[in-house]
Amino acid sequence: MSRKPKLLPIHIYGDKVLRLKCEEVQVIDENISQFAEDLIATMYQWDGVGLAAPQVGVNKRIIVIDAERKDNPKKQSPLVMINPIIEESSGETETEEGCISIPDIYAKVVRPSNITVSYTDIKNEQHRIKLSGYPAVIVQHECDHLDGILFTDHLSTIARLKIRNKLKELQKNTVDGVNIRCEE
Ligand code: CO
Repeated sequence: MSRKPKLLPIHIYGDKVLRLKCEEVQVIDENISQFAEDLIATMYQWDGVGLAAPQVGVNKRIIVIDAERKDNPKKQSPLVMINPIIEESSGETETEEGCISIPDIYAKVVRPSNITVSYTDIKNEQHRIKLSGYPAVIVQHECDHLDGILFTDHLSTIARLKIRNKLKELQKNTVDGVNIRCEE
């Protein structure tokens, strides 16, 4: 708790870590809780509403979200979800999505509007909650990252064509499978 959170480097579209299936967290120890703190600090650094471990190059099933951030930018209400599983989903909603790993690209994505998600928190307690609307969308976007799926994968062929050149631009900076965002 005395340790100050570290800001972690962001892995960008083209980096192979973004396409891996992440591994389950077996033990929630001090290392995991420190990592979660770092992930939260990094999410806020980039003004994100969610961030998944593979986006900072860590192949583990951990996500952080802050769904209230959009309406209340001054307040911080982070939620850490370890080994999240979307157990049920229903309905349909369309939301303009972006991703810290895919800078400056936004597109409308259709997803279920209601989900039931189970996860373990940082104190090793199990939860099962229902989410609707914007928080449900964020959790689905972040859970996708844990299976190597990006929001651009959900687009129609036509919508993907529109952003193809921008994606190619991002991908160009990949060296030996690694594409890390430079500090601005
Ligand atoms: Co993302």
